[in-house]
Amino acid sequence: MIRLFRATNFRCLESVELELGPRFNLISGANASGKTSLLEALAYLGRGKSFRGASTSSLTRHEANEFVLFGEVEQVHGRVPVGVRNSREGLEVRVGGESTSGAAALAKALPLQVIDPEVHSLIAGGPEQRRRFLDWVAFHVEHDHLMIWRRFRRALKQRNAALKAKSTEAAIRSWNAEFLKLAGELDASRRRVLELTLDSLQEHGFLLLETELSFEYQQGWARERGLAEALERGLERDLQLGATQSGPHRADIRVGYDQRQARKLVSRGQQKLLASAMILAATETAQAALEQPLLLLLDDPAAELDSDSITRLMTAVAALGCQVVATSLDREALVFPEKPVRFHVEQGAVTAAD
Ligand SMILES: Nc1ncnc2c1ncn2[C@@H]1O[C@H](COP(=O)(O)OP(=O)(O)OP(=O)(O)O)[C@@H](O)[C@H]1O
Ligand SMILES: [Mg+2]
Repeated sequence: MIRLFRATNFRCLESVELELGPRFNLISGANASGKTSLLEALAYLGRGKSFRGASTSSLTRHEANEFVLFGEVEQVHGRVPVGVRNSREGLEVRVGGESTSGAAALAKALPLQVIDPEVHSLIAGGPEQRRRFLDWVAFHVEHDHLMIWRRFRRALKQRNAALKAKSTEAAIRSWNAEFLKLAGELDASRRRVLELTLDSLQEHGFLLLETELSFEYQQGWARERGLAEALERGLERDLQLGATQSGPHRADIRVGYDQRQARKLVSRGQQKLLASAMILAATETAQAALEQPLLLLLDDPAAELDSDSITRLMTAVAALGCQVVATSLDREALVFPEKPVRFHVEQGAVTAAD
């Protein structure tokens, strides 16, 4: 969790400082005051990228040359300073006073999840987001998931490069052994993680939607075959398309709602609740493994939800015991089990409110 946060020249925020509470924090303000910017700044410090998919260059405040984010993160052994600076020289990352590279160090230092108005795309959108969802839990729960994932990506790239170059079948087959080994490890890691998360997924699904949900891992190649056989059978097609069509890079989670496929069935509000249930389950699972409260960012959680639904969501959020930073247009719209630490945003400036 994060206790002190500073942002300079990030989107519309010129210079802000917040002392966040360990449990509930509420940021309110009018449209375009800077609420999402503030959450995005917090998320950037834990991810090294925007949660909206915005390019890093678009995040620097107009008229400024660089943005700087700094946080004091509370970990089991005490507070750790975490900072990023994005300038023309690129992104500099510092964790615990040491310069490091990349998003993995930030994600370890400040693990967080986000529920924003686009969260429904976890259900309605393509499989990549659901793979990313599973890989996020695996990153925190499985010791070497990131290493396996990176090595698999490299093997896939090499095999695809050979396919694109129209190499001989023998040359392409020579990439298979490494590809199969890493694909097997990645597949096994994801299956373990979905299994570990399953109870929490179903519990949160039931809490938010009052119905039974199912979550099934789809491995990314025909179920009745091994991957080696799928590669062999698909070789001609792979060569035509210049890319490997079977493997864990094609995996998905099939979400079932009342025995049917959720993405085809549920309303937009239900998609949001379902996706939120998944985020809460991921947070709970990672939190249990890391033995520390995580940070959960809620951007306008009330959007698109009726009053019963938002109450159920906020009750489930509160039960997790994580640190929450939520935004709202109206400071009374969200109900917390205890008084939140309040902030007011106006034209990119933040003041503590009571
Ligand atoms: N790089 C930037 N430099 C300066 N201003 C920016 C930059 N990027 C975005 N803005 C502006 O920041 C303002 C605040 O945007 P933000 O999305 O944070 O508002 P918000 O409070 O979340 O509003 P809403 O209630 O509508 O969601 C907007 O007017 C936007 O145009
Ligand atoms: Mg907003």
